[in-house]
Amino acid sequence: MATSRRLLSVITLFMKMLIFSISGKISWCANAGEVEDDIIWGASEGDAIQQLTWNVTYGIRSPLGTYQKVLLINNQFPGPEIDTVTNTNLLINVYNSLNEPFLITWNGIWQRRTSWQDGVLGTNCPIPPGRNFTYFFQVKDQIGSYFYFPSTGFLKAAGGYGGLKIDNRIIIPLPYPVPNGDVFLLIGDWYNTNHTDLQARLDQGGRLGPPDGVVINGKGPFGEFLTVDQGKTYRLRICNVGISTSLNFRIASHKLTVVETEGSHTKQNSYENLDIHVGQCYSVLVTCNQPSADYYMVASTRFTTPVLNGIGVVHYSNSGTKVSGPLPPGPTVEIGYSLNQFRTITWNLTANAARPNPQGSFHYGMINVTETAVLEGASTAINGKQRYAVNSISYVNPDTPLKLADYFNIGGVFSMNFPRNPSGGSAFLGVFVLNTVYRGFLELVFQNDENIVQSWHIDGYTAFIVGANGGKWTSASRKEYNLLDAVARSTLQVYPQSWTAVLMELDNVGMWNLRSQIWERQYLGEQLYFKVPNPDGSFRNEADIPPNALRCGRAIGH
Ligand SMILES: *[C@@H]1O[C@H](CO)[C@@H](O)[C@H](O)[C@H]1NC(C)=O
Ligand SMILES: *[C@@H]1O[C@H](CO)[C@@H](O)[C@H](O)[C@H]1NC(C)=O
Ligand SMILES: *[C@@H]1O[C@H](CO)[C@@H](O)[C@H](O)[C@H]1NC(C)=O
Ligand SMILES: *[C@@H]1O[C@H](CO)[C@@H](O)[C@H](O)[C@H]1NC(C)=O
Ligand SMILES: *[C@@H]1O[C@H](CO)[C@@H](O)[C@H](O)[C@H]1NC(C)=O
Repeated sequence: MATSRRLLSVITLFMKMLIFSISGKISWCANAGEVEDDIIWGASEGDAIQQLTWNVTYGIRSPLGTYQKVLLINNQFPGPEIDTVTNTNLLINVYNSLNEPFLITWNGIWQRRTSWQDGVLGTNCPIPPGRNFTYFFQVKDQIGSYFYFPSTGFLKAAGGYGGLKIDNRIIIPLPYPVPNGDVFLLIGDWYNTNHTDLQARLDQGGRLGPPDGVVINGKGPFGEFLTVDQGKTYRLRICNVGISTSLNFRIASHKLTVVETEGSHTKQNSYENLDIHVGQCYSVLVTCNQPSADYYMVASTRFTTPVLNGIGVVHYSNSGTKVSGPLPPGPTVEIGYSLNQFRTITWNLTANAARPNPQGSFHYGMINVTETAVLEGASTAINGKQRYAVNSISYVNPDTPLKLADYFNIGGVFSMNFPRNPSGGSAFLGVFVLNTVYRGFLELVFQNDENIVQSWHIDGYTAFIVGANGGKWTSASRKEYNLLDAVARSTLQVYPQSWTAVLMELDNVGMWNLRSQIWERQYLGEQLYFKVPNPDGSFRNEADIPPNALRCGRAIGH
């Protein structure tokens, strides 16, 4: 009875939200109803509601001097920044005005108990051209920096991404003084070829090839111009939103103090420059304590020849000097440098906010591992075409999202029992789900026997990045794990001929995507889904299907 009353109140809430959303624009309203902790469709009554209406269209821009078709959200390239506060219910009504199916995914956002809102093709039907879909979820306990991007087709190469920051409520202090300014720098490689041509290359069995340059907030050389005041400290939220290339970020003569990554407060170490792999986000503090002048800000490609530079300017407001001379040097192909830096990014155990997981995981090193999977990505050929696989399975998107097939018991869409170890056999096309145990403690090992720097992303979770080293992982590698202060995050790199291991508590029920963030690889099969089952089917563990969920494939009519 309590449940049906709650159900009713949340239905009412949802209807109210939808009515508000028609008015468009950004608006806020605190909901005056009773405080309701239970989550039914991923939102919670009693907390603030923030509504956005987005119109997704094509537009023409020339980030690197070549005019090409790109993605706009409300006419903006990159898309609008989402600034929100923990516990807020986000209601984002997305109109697809493209001529192709569309979805947005929220990189690094947990979507607690509701993979229904994750916005990938395994959990959501794409929004058909000319239609809209309202995402509806609550951001919880995840103070930090994230971004969103289009997950369908090859649209990620056309922009359509934007920053997403979750701030603390005033009562939760941050482990550093409030900065004088706070800006996103979305850095990424860029191709002067449009996304449909890039996609066609891959569909025909080819490779993407190297990018044409690097953009900062969608702008080419000297386009991004940050004006700062001498003596002040700024928070830069830097995300690599590109599709294939690790980047090194630096500002001439200034130190970068890393304070946060994907929702975890880090030890506040200072660096001359910082490697940011595809899909990763960091917050750094920069104190403008140098002589009044303009300084280069650089995002350069890592592990490539030639090196491509994205160049912006940090301008002291009292400076009359323009930038000149050589760019500040940074690492280029060195792997060891990057690995050493990676190991210094650890968790600040005394910081009291932004814990990745409220229960237990603070002492993650004392929890016994209950299941292990070793995932080996590989480049392969199937039917004479370039593909990528994980444990010999090259994922193909079925006509019906796995989440819907699972919910409606539609057979024949996917198989369970994704192999927990590399088989060594030849790769094949398939749709397999890695099954897990609710509240188990999972050890995931990412093995990379190739000569590329890999980047993996885990949806719905943050994981403790406990170890990384060269060679093949063996059970003896566990002795090297950092069981004390490893940082928890959602995107991790794996160096060439190396492994990276993570631990995660399986407390978020749902069907979750695990993918290479290297978009050619993701698109050609280097991804999978893992299922964390709902032990008793209750809405406490997992939100019910949202009332507006789109239907497609074999889910039509359900
Ligand atoms: C989206 O933008 C296009 C192009 O400006 C316009 O034709 C269309 O009406 C807009 N749709 C919505 C829902 O605002
Ligand atoms: C599309 O937008 C309308 C108007 O806000 C809303 O009522 C409807 O629920 C939206 N559709 C979906 C599938 O979310
Ligand atoms: C991409 O460019 C090609 C020409 O190279 C053009 O035929 C195609 O229509 C463009 N795609 C889009 C989405 O504009
Ligand atoms: C950790 O956070 C505390 C605040 O909780 C701060 O005072 C301290 O400087 C931080 N330590 C490091 C090494 O970042
Ligand atoms: C972990 O496993 C060991 C050995 O089986 C056991 O003694 C210990 O109590 C377990 N720890 C926890 C926290 O469950």
